[in-house]
Amino acid sequence: MLNKLLNFYCAAKQLKLTFTKLKFKRMKFFIDTANLAQIKEAQDMGVLDGVTTNPSLMAKEGIKGQNNILKHYVDICNIVTGDVSAEVIATDFDGMVAEGEALAALHERIVVKIPMIKEGVKAIKYFTEKGIKTNCTLVFSAGQALLAAKAGATYVSPFIGRLDDVSTDGLALIDDIRLIYDNYGYETQILAASVRHPMHIIECAKLGADVATCPLSAITALLNHPLTTSGLAQFLADAKK
Ligand code: E4P
Repeated sequence: MLNKLLNFYCAAKQLKLTFTKLKFKRMKFFIDTANLAQIKEAQDMGVLDGVTTNPSLMAKEGIKGQNNILKHYVDICNIVTGDVSAEVIATDFDGMVAEGEALAALHERIVVKIPMIKEGVKAIKYFTEKGIKTNCTLVFSAGQALLAAKAGATYVSPFIGRLDDVSTDGLALIDDIRLIYDNYGYETQILAASVRHPMHIIECAKLGADVATCPLSAITALLNHPLTTSGLAQFLADAKK
């Protein structure tokens, strides 16, 4: 009898895990840049699902001043068809709420990007209750990811490349977060960030990350294989015969 109950429990748990995975079956590719030309190029490839930006990426493109920054977010939203993360600069609750509401009002695709700090968790909860999408950024541990999910974040951004940079396994964090979210059915999407190369993308796909946000170079690197190059050269040469 006890055995039957145990088997039933295991089967139910397995069913729940399978169902959770099925719900998020399609992996999304975001581009991690504020460069309009690169965003257009990725969009034209037909594989782009969204964009992430941060203050450093905006500065890299020379976008300065509040009005220019807001206009730039709208320009990005007009190129893509998916979510566009725009980061708040404030670090206090009231400031994050004011900035986030202004950002969200810019365009329906804007997702308010909020740092993983105590005030940020409060702000995520606030935006969740208002139906505004959020991306919890600067996540480096499973505990932080659990807090983001409990606050109702739409996305959580574990920075895998920066963890690798300090001799810590970034991909192991993706694995841990996947396990924890699946255990409880949290709907927060795992947005693997700080992706540096194509193997990061492939490993994230194997681990079940919902999204990978990558530089254009990492996405286009997925195209490359020497046998494709030589095979195509051969086909084209033979076609002339
Ligand atoms: C995430 O949203 C961040 O913008 C980004 O992925 C950080 O990447 P980096 O570590 O290469 O700066």
